[in-house]
Amino acid sequence: MKKRILSGMRPTGKLHLGNYVGALENWVKLQGEYENFHLVADWHLLTTDLDTSNIKDNTVEMVIDWLSAGIDAQQSPIFIQSKIKQHAELFLLFSMLVSVPRLERNPTVKEQAKDLGLDNNMAYGHLGYPVLQAADILLYQAHLVPVGEDQMPHIELTREIARRFNTTYDEVFIVPNGKLTEFPRLPGLDGKKMSKSLGNTILLSDSPDEIGSKVMQAVTDPQKIRLGDPGRPEICNVFTYHRKFNVGEVDQIESDCRSGKLGCVACKKNLANRLATYFEGFREKRAYYLQHIDEVRDIISSGTATAQKVASETMAKVYQAMKIG
Ligand code: TRP
Repeated sequence: MKKRILSGMRPTGKLHLGNYVGALENWVKLQGEYENFHLVADWHLLTTDLDTSNIKDNTVEMVIDWLSAGIDAQQSPIFIQSKIKQHAELFLLFSMLVSVPRLERNPTVKEQAKDLGLDNNMAYGHLGYPVLQAADILLYQAHLVPVGEDQMPHIELTREIARRFNTTYDEVFIVPNGKLTEFPRLPGLDGKKMSKSLGNTILLSDSPDEIGSKVMQAVTDPQKIRLGDPGRPEICNVFTYHRKFNVGEVDQIESDCRSGKLGCVACKKNLANRLATYFEGFREKRAYYLQHIDEVRDIISSGTATAQKVASETMAKVYQAMKIG
C-alpha cells in the first residue's frame, strides 16, 4: 500500500508563484508515489480573518488552481475541512494533550502575532490553530506533510501530540514527517515575502500581459542602473526567478549580468516570456475549469466523501483507545 500525504492550504483564492514553488508543485510531483489527500483549510482562515463572505468563491478559485497545476482528483481526493466534523472533534481531544506555554513558544504563531499587532490579545482559536492542524494531519494517518519552512513548527507539534496520544491511550497514530520543498521560498517582486497583502505577487492565472507588466516592476540590483553596469545576481529577485523557471539559460544569464553585457530590461523581458510559456498549459486548463464549475464542485464532493470515510475510521479507533464515545 502507498504511504499517505496530507497537504493543506487556506482558501485565500487564486494562488501565486510563491504558493506554487513552496507547495503545489511538490504536491503534483509526489502524487504518483504517495496517496495524496488535499485539504482546503477553511476553518484555519478564521484565525486571521473573521470575514467569511468570500470563502466559498475563494475555495473554488483555489481548487481550480490545484487542478490546473496537475492535481489528479481521481487519485488524490480534494476536500473541505468544515465539511468533516471529525476535525473539530479530534482538535478538542488533542487540546487536552498540549500545554498553553507550549503553544505560546511556537515561532510561527509568535511572528504572526507580531505582524498582526496582536500583542497579548490573540484569540484562543488562533493560539490553538496548530493543534487543529495536528488533527488535520493525524486524522488521515499521513506519513508525510509537504510544507514550507514556516509550517515546520506545526509539524513538530503534530509529532508530539501523536506520541502523547499513543503513549497515554493506545498506538492509534502514525507519527508524520514534514517535507520541505527543494526551493522553499520564492521572494515577491520587491524581495519581501510573496504575499497578496503586500501586492508583490505574480498569480498562476495572470495573463502574459499581466506577467510582463509585473516583472518589469521587479526590484533588481540597485547598483545596476544602466546597460553595461555589472550586476550581482546573488542579490537580484529576477535572477532567483530565472534560477527556478529558466534552468536552461540561467548560467548564461548569470555571467552576462555580471559582465554587464545583459541589461535588466532585456533580462526581465526574457523572464516574462519564460513565465508566460511555463504556465501556458496551466492557463488553458484553468479556462476549461472556469467553464465547468459543476465538475469542480463534483470533484470536491466526491473527495469529501472519500476523506469522510477515513476520518470516521480514525475517530472510531480514537474512541476505542480512549474507551469513551
Ligand atoms: N496552516 C497552514 C497554512 O497556513 C494550512 C494548513 C491547515 C495545513 N491544515 C494543514 C497545512 C495541514 C498542512 C497540513 O498554510
